[in-house]
Amino acid sequence: MATIPSSPAPLRVGVIGLGMGAVHLEAYAAMPDVEVVALAGKEEARLAELGAQYGVRHLLADWADLVTLPDVDAVSIATPNALHHPITMAALAAGKHVFCEKPIAIDTAQAKEMVQAARDNDRVLEVAFNHRRRADVQYARTYLTSVGIGRVYHSRASWRRRAGIPGLGSWFTNKAMAGGGALIDLGPHVLDSLLFLLGEPRVVSVSAVTHGALGRAGYGSWDRADQMTSAKGAFEVDDLASALFRLDDGSSVAFEISWAGHGVDTDDISIELLGIEGGLRLFIPQYSSDDTLRIYRDEAGAPVTITPEVHVVGGEHPLVIREFVDAIASGDWDAHRGDFALHRTAVLDACYRSAAEGREIRLEP
Ligand SMILES: NC(=O)c1ccc[n+]([C@@H]2O[C@H](COP(=O)([O-])OP(=O)(O)OC[C@H]3O[C@@H](n4cnc5c(N)ncnc54)[C@H](O)[C@@H]3O)[C@@H](O)[C@H]2O)c1
Repeated sequence: MATIPSSPAPLRVGVIGLGMGAVHLEAYAAMPDVEVVALAGKEEARLAELGAQYGVRHLLADWADLVTLPDVDAVSIATPNALHHPITMAALAAGKHVFCEKPIAIDTAQAKEMVQAARDNDRVLEVAFNHRRRADVQYARTYLTSVGIGRVYHSRASWRRRAGIPGLGSWFTNKAMAGGGALIDLGPHVLDSLLFLLGEPRVVSVSAVTHGALGRAGYGSWDRADQMTSAKGAFEVDDLASALFRLDDGSSVAFEISWAGHGVDTDDISIELLGIEGGLRLFIPQYSSDDTLRIYRDEAGAPVTITPEVHVVGGEHPLVIREFVDAIASGDWDAHRGDFALHRTAVLDACYRSAAEGREIRLEP
């Protein structure tokens, strides 16, 4: 008599954090092969509300009580940046797989320890680089690999806001909790998309400056009301960073990130690649989902501008979370130890050092 194959047991996940954590929770809850069994966060009412909505059995105030639960297989981290390292280390040591929000950590030393711990404990460590999953970024990569624009010799990459400090006076603007400001917050996404488009060259050196004058003056909060009431001096980090990178393929990058600035930008991401045979620009003003791509080349002796019609559906978090779940199920974990994220944090960390020391910093090979 034929036996019906039994489906594998669902992956049991614990989510930490109730801001972006709620986005993780929703993504896992929609997956038939995943069960969210634990949720942790400080906001009591929100914890109870989300717990009831998704039927989560363990509701906890602190991450430390979640990472050792025997019925948790994987931990999903969406806490202030400084907690990414201690939570990941504890979870990996307890034999859990880890999905962590960007940035992987607040500095290179912490990120290295996390990647090493993923190897030592033979577990998956994945970091949320959701922006590269946008349809326009994916199309740009396909164009570059299938049609191409010749060797890219220089790129310009930026995310600039006119007034977009996420919570003036909150953990985002506290150096110890966030590790930095605009650069460590928005920089990982822009750098990740850029390196993905370029085919993963390594950054070998950086020369950077940072500023924080507007934030320190109490200007630039996303929330205008917050800006009027926030105490001056609650801002300890950068609101603007600008850098020149040298890459191991011989190309260069002008990189600029800002949370605030009296300028033309509102909340705009731009990645521009200059190649020998053509150019490509991805320009995303205010998270727009259409008309974000241009390709520039010469055809039959005249400049031509190509406008690919790519629509971005949005909500890329479920895609990266799906990849995390699939990576665990595949049993092939060596390509999923957080190495990509480590390089991105090493670059941003080097920018902070370069700005502090007023000199170019070479990255470790
Ligand atoms: N990938 C993206 O597009 C994206 C977008 C926004 C934020 N993020 C990242 O997500 C992370 C969280 O950002 P956020 O906007 O959700 O912040 P948030 O302030 O909204 O949420 C932080 C959560 O951490 C919880 N927390 C703090 N200390 C805790 C503890 N000891 N134990 C358990 N929970 C604790 C808080 O209770 C809160 O629910 C950051 O690293 C940020 O960079 C990523």
